[in-house]
Parts: sequence; C-alpha cells; structure tokens
Amino acid sequence: MVDHRSDQEVVRLVGLRKSYNVGKPTEVEVLHGLDLTLARRDFATLVGASGSGKSTLLNLVGLLDTPTSGELFLMGKATRDMGDAERTALRANAIGFVFQFHHLIQAFTAVENVLMPLMVTGGKPSSEQVEWAHRLLEQVGLKGLERRKPDELSGGQQQRVAVARALVMRPALLLADEPTGNLDTQSAAEVFRLFRQFNEEFGCAVLLVTHDTRLSEQCDRTITLVDGNIESDERAL
Ligand SMILES: Nc1ncnc2c1ncn2[C@@H]1O[C@H](COP(=O)(O)OP(=O)(O)OP(=O)(O)O)[C@@H](O)[C@H]1O
Ligand SMILES: [Mg+2]
Repeated sequence: MVDHRSDQEVVRLVGLRKSYNVGKPTEVEVLHGLDLTLARRDFATLVGASGSGKSTLLNLVGLLDTPTSGELFLMGKATRDMGDAERTALRANAIGFVFQFHHLIQAFTAVENVLMPLMVTGGKPSSEQVEWAHRLLEQVGLKGLERRKPDELSGGQQQRVAVARALVMRPALLLADEPTGNLDTQSAAEVFRLFRQFNEEFGCAVLLVTHDTRLSEQCDRTITLVDGNIESDERAL
C-alpha cells in the first residue's frame, strides 16, 4: 500500500538522463542529468518550450519509459533494477496519469471506465470500490451521467471521467500532460480545480505540464525545462 504521509518524498531524480535511438546514428540525448525532488503535498507545473523534454520526463517519472542513466526513486524505491511486474504494480498503485487525449474505452460506461484500473489490478471490483467510483464521478460533477458511454458525453465531461479514473487508485502522484489542451477555457478551469481539490483534500502530489499560463501561474511550484536541463525551480510566495 502507498504511504500517504504529507511529508513523504514521492519522486526523486538523481542525474537522470534520457537518450532516444541509442546506438543508432540518430542517437540524441534529450534530458541531460536532472536532479529533482517532489514531495507529497507539491502542486507543481513543468513548463518549457516545445521539444524541451517535458513529456519525456513525465513518461520516465510515470514508468512508461526507462532512463538511459541516473536513478529514479518512486515512493522511496529505486526503480532501475525493478522487473516488469514490480514496475507495473508500482505504476498502478502509486501513479495516476491524465493525458491530452483521454483514451477512454468507448464500449464502457463512465463508471466502468473509472473502475478500469481497479479491475486490471484486482479483478471484479467490490461494492465499496463501485461506491468510490460513483463518489469520484460525483466529485468531478458527473452525478447522474455514470451510465453514459464516452460518445454520449462532451469533451470536457470525458476528460473529467479520465481525471476520476486517474484518481480511483488513490495515487500518491498525479501526472498530467496537457490535460486541458483539448478543452474550452471553462472545462480547463474545472479540471484544474479538481487537481487542486485532490491535492489539498487527499494529499496527492501533482506534476502538471501545460502551455496555458493562466493555469501554470496558479501552481505552487514552477519547474522550467530548457533544452533538457532544469533551468529554474521556483516556489510561489
Ligand atoms: N520517441 C522519440 N524518438 C526520438 N526523439 C524523440 C522521441 N520522443 C521525443 N523525442 C525528441 O525529444 C525531445 C523532447 O521531446 P518531448 O516530447 O519530451 O518534448 P515536450 O517538451 O513534451 O514538447 P511539447 O511541448 O511539444 O509536447 C524533442 O527534441 C523530440 O523531438
Ligand atoms: Mg509534450
């Protein structure tokens, strides 16, 4: 189980490097030895120009990809020598991911989509888990729409289902890569408000990539990537 103490270190990067096309003529290093720590209560945004390495970094932290060198600690555990099963279990239990495109399963209802991560890790959900999924959908403003399929919901509503799905495992860390890039201003503000609410009420660290300065300006901490290096890491006063 994930430890939910507020002072807990959730992520630590030590000299993290990432190259693509290793061993080929096109080999290129895109992250050049990053050091970074995220704690349980952090509400941080990762900003930087297109191509600076934001998605690469999020994918590494989310265990969707592996670093070329350096170490990534998640929940205090070194991840380098973990086997696939251990990585998958840690990812499923500790991390929620929201992407620009929600990747909801069209054949499933909203509540079934929210329950997906629980079903993948544990089979048939318990009645408590189904109740929790309904509560999350209520929190994201979708009460009454639980049985709708994704194509019967607006884009903003679909993204809110994706947010509920990302939170169903009560992750210690929420990673979001342009989660509002596809939404109108009001839906974007609502999704952002949900991140803030879960960070405060439920103590999940947030690392948000967004090009929307109206949102990034509201974060407590701004980490700026320039050409694969952390140029600055500042906390709001
Ligand atoms: N699979 C890949 N193979 C080779 N190069 C890649 C791959 N993925 C990303 N890159 C390169 O790595 C660099 C960083 O890409 P990344 O997607 O992390 O940038 P980003 O900051 O997320 O940009 P954006 O704001 O446009 O999403 C870019 O130069 C990109 O071309
Ligand atoms: Mg990106």
